[in-house]
Amino acid sequence: MPAVNEQEVWSAADAYLEDELVGEDADLAAARAASSEAGLPDIAVSPLQGKFLHLLARATGARRVLEVGTLGGYSTIWLARALPGDGRLVSLELEPRHAEVARSNLVRAELADRVEVRIGRAADSLSAMISAGEAPFDLVFIDADKPSNAAYLEFALQLSRPGTLIVVDNVVRKGALADRASLDPAVIGSREVIEALAADPRVDATALQTVGMKGHDGFAVALVLGV
Ligand code: SAH
Ligand code: DHB
Ligand code: MG
Repeated sequence: MPAVNEQEVWSAADAYLEDELVGEDADLAAARAASSEAGLPDIAVSPLQGKFLHLLARATGARRVLEVGTLGGYSTIWLARALPGDGRLVSLELEPRHAEVARSNLVRAELADRVEVRIGRAADSLSAMISAGEAPFDLVFIDADKPSNAAYLEFALQLSRPGTLIVVDNVVRKGALADRASLDPAVIGSREVIEALAADPRVDATALQTVGMKGHDGFAVALVLGV
């Protein structure tokens, strides 16, 4: 038997599952292509992961979704498509160029009416939303700068109600999460948010490792019990 590259196996299984279960449509494919064309990093959720987020939003009946980290709006499209016509999604993005690509992708996907992409440091936007008395969100997807994960969790809790679902992307980082000695700021950020979830009586949480076209990573998922 030839040596098998694990990444090839994961990618092949992802391709099979994506082909069977997702079948990315023209607007999603165009969003991915436009993001790549604009030189944005190739770090959006995979199609299977995007559909997973979409199904979580539908299963929870989400009407208000908060996303931290828009990039080109690929995950935004998946989440916004789960919303009813009068639903609303707010997505926070630091880079004006990313937000511009995302807005154009959302217009193409005919979702611009229910999505607001806010430019600025997410911590500033979140503070402003809390001060302004923004209504609670039903689902929060945290997927921006990883060292701020624990801070974003705290803000998210202040914008939650009992029953809100909080999902944090990229917490496993090829398993480096388990390396207490790691000096990688993203790994430290992942550990901090996992430990914050573990210690916080306002939530009950788990995490799932994933393998696939994006390698080995994972999501944390937390249910808000009380705030
Ligand atoms: N959710 C997207 C991927 C987001 S990538 C998807 O799956 O399709 C992470 C994004 O977070 C990048 O666009 C980056 O510019 C943004 N970001 C980084 N630091 C940020 C900050 N401090 N505030 C808001 N956004 C930030
Ligand atoms: C990175 C960020 C992401 O949001 C992601 O899904 C994958 C990788 C990163 O910063 O390396
Ligand atoms: Mg991510």
